[in-house]
Amino acid sequence: MKNIVLCGFMGCGKSTVGRRLAPMTNRQFVDMDRYIEEQVGKRISTLFRDEGEEAFRKAETAACNALGGESGLIIATGGGAVLREENVAALKQNGLLVWLRVIPETVLSRLSRDQSRPLLMRDDKETAVRELMAARTPLYAAAADFTVDADGDAFSVARAIQKALKL
Ligand code: S3P
Repeated sequence: MKNIVLCGFMGCGKSTVGRRLAPMTNRQFVDMDRYIEEQVGKRISTLFRDEGEEAFRKAETAACNALGGESGLIIATGGGAVLREENVAALKQNGLLVWLRVIPETVLSRLSRDQSRPLLMRDDKETAVRELMAARTPLYAAAADFTVDADGDAFSVARAIQKALKL
């Protein structure tokens, strides 16, 4: 059974939608960030702080290779998983990539009090979101097998994915 791989910007709802979609499609849910934290034995924010983004990206690629070789999973990736082509290739081995597309305002309202995303820990969070999203949008678009607008509630997004992919 193919994996369903949820991609998209921080705060687009990959984990929330994935948790809902798993029982609806008889698949097992895996949150890639939590998987990386278990493998490395550190919180992602600690890994970024102690060893830098590159160390995190290396662990993320290892996770893409490991989980991409499995089957029957709903995988919620981290927002930067599409940055490396090799990650996308590994996740597509046995998976369909779904882009949960959101507007910057959705991210800003969902993550207004969040402290767990190192890339958004800047004085001007709005500029950080807008700039990073503009840079990444073409990558999500190129990687996606299917795109769903994800500004609404998680259950509707999960249903839209289930219906479109006939899961
Ligand atoms: C990142 C997104 C985060 C996490 C890390 C880097 C990114 O995951 O992997 O902080 O580069 O966009 P979420 O998208 O689940 O927040």
